[in-house]
Amino acid sequence: MKEVLEHLTAVAGVSGREDEIRRVVGELVRPYADEVGVDALGNLIAHKFGLGPRLMLVAHLDEIGLIVTEVDERGFLRFMPVGSGIPAWRLVGARVAFSNGVPGVVGQEKVEEVKDLRPARLFIDIGATSAEEARALTGGTGAVASFAPSFSVCCRRVVAKALDDRAGCALLVRLLTELREVPNDLVVVFSVQEEVGQRGARTAAFGLHPAVAVAIDVSPAGDTPEAERRTVALGKGPAVKVMDTGLIAHPAVRELLLEIAGREGIPHQREVLERGATDAAVIQVTLEGIPSGAVSLPCRYVHSAAEMIDLDDLEGAYRLLRALALTPLAGRF
Ligand code: CO
Ligand code: ZN
Repeated sequence: MKEVLEHLTAVAGVSGREDEIRRVVGELVRPYADEVGVDALGNLIAHKFGLGPRLMLVAHLDEIGLIVTEVDERGFLRFMPVGSGIPAWRLVGARVAFSNGVPGVVGQEKVEEVKDLRPARLFIDIGATSAEEARALTGGTGAVASFAPSFSVCCRRVVAKALDDRAGCALLVRLLTELREVPNDLVVVFSVQEEVGQRGARTAAFGLHPAVAVAIDVSPAGDTPEAERRTVALGKGPAVKVMDTGLIAHPAVRELLLEIAGREGIPHQREVLERGATDAAVIQVTLEGIPSGAVSLPCRYVHSAAEMIDLDDLEGAYRLLRALALTPLAGRF
């Protein structure tokens, strides 16, 4: 899993610019799916035919990033974050890279207090000395930068950019490569534009009309010193979503996931998240309503250049998703 995770997190794919990561994931899954397609918004959909009800598993391809709003006369690039829930102070000092590879660092204006730090007071410094140079190197207004790739492993924990949600993508890639016969009709969706409001999952669910859907995404862990909230913790296993800002998990989906985790002896936790949502939030209200739930990977420093997850949680999530995919759902949904 480590190798595919390193591979997937190294690719840039800010919301709306998922071409490269879609190509990379598409190549990985194509040999293992009965059918692979891309819809109008850019969702990558891998289908494994089965006779049972349609099960949709979804992880998002996109990652948060920065989009240039203007370039000043000295070559500093002002930007707006792409994606919500990005604290400005997490951006300060981050290394970034434009899609053409041009590197930069996020600098800040003088501010008296951390709370005064807003994205409007930050800028990307690529080292250019004039507006012309900065524009020529990046494209200027509308150019998009992601965090620069980084990847390290220590103590069973991975630190990288974009683990939100390449960790979910890596799980679904592995699932496709290892599954043979499936009892349900399985559609695996690698969705676009999750970070700007779950837009890809909305149209994908409409087009696919699944009987049941499960999103796989990270969830902010509350297990660091004096953390703001008590939520999920790293190393205690994948979390079965109970509720977040956008979803009250469908009881039948939640109980199914808990039942499977219990049956398979997979250490797991329950998640109630005060702030944040996943693709499941929009899938549940698509069409006449789709029973939806989510499996979360506890993650520290979500939406920063250095997110952290636990490899045992990842393994547990894999076992849970695999058992789910192999559970006949006929009569349940
Ligand atoms: Co996110
Ligand atoms: Zn996410």
